[in-house]
Amino acid sequence: MNIILIGAQGAGKGTQAQNLAHTLGVVHVSSGDLLRTVSNSGTDIGQQVRAYLDRGELVPDDLIVTLVLRRITEPDAKRSGVLLDGFPRTIAQAQTLDQGLAELGLYIDCAVYLTVPREVLLRRLSGRYICRAHQHVYNRDTNPPKVEGICDIDGSPLYQRTDDQGPAIEKRLDIFFSETFQLLDYYRSQSRLVEVDGNDSIEQVRKNLFHAIAEFELKKKYQDDNQ
Ligand code: AP5
Ligand code: MG
Repeated sequence: MNIILIGAQGAGKGTQAQNLAHTLGVVHVSSGDLLRTVSNSGTDIGQQVRAYLDRGELVPDDLIVTLVLRRITEPDAKRSGVLLDGFPRTIAQAQTLDQGLAELGLYIDCAVYLTVPREVLLRRLSGRYICRAHQHVYNRDTNPPKVEGICDIDGSPLYQRTDDQGPAIEKRLDIFFSETFQLLDYYRSQSRLVEVDGNDSIEQVRKNLFHAIAEFELKKKYQDDNQ
């Protein structure tokens, strides 16, 4: 099973993805995490990527497409399927993804859109902290760690992302609602879009996601059986 998680910055993609991927038995692939690894690599390309991230702008399509396609063709991902978090973000990326998967005899089952109002997104992002070791996500107000500044799960220090400060926050949201938003029509027109309310507690959103995907799969099976 291959699923895409679409949501504005702060919608809760990273917060939900690890648990959801585990429940579905697929590999979680986060385009932002892949890029942050490159940006910390100390290479020239790493420096270029860092500049895009710090400004809150999308990196060029060919770079992110190469990184994600490389990851999803690794044996674990090919075997069990993937939950894509943050990719695709443009129609061109979506088309290249469909093409790349088709060459492997694979396809995207559905794209899940987590809906959250803009004012809630802004509040969540300014209170977010991430752990250094495995990118576990916390929030000063809604999901604090037990010990301030330390990850509950692996004990590594927490930090605030550079793009969660200053004008980069608003810029990322503008890009989402103008550009990435167009992806919803792309998947809706192919009857592959599932919308889920993300403006609830973390636990309730977890349940909403699971039920929506299970319901989508059931409907699809019924349609396939009755064709
Ligand atoms: P990426 O790392 O994907 O960041 P993003 O798109 O800005 O999304 P976020 O990680 O900010 O949001 P999220 O939905 O994961 O929220 P989270 O779960 O953390 O990308 C970074 C950059 O990489 C981009 O800006 C771009 O430059 C580049 N990039 C990435 N993909 C690309 C692509 N395909 N093409 C080109 N460039 C690309 O939650 C946020 C906060 O809210 C947390 O504090 C959390 O604790 C809290 N929270 C979550 N859910 C709830 C809830 N239900 N109730 C209360 N609080 C909650
Ligand atoms: Mg994220």
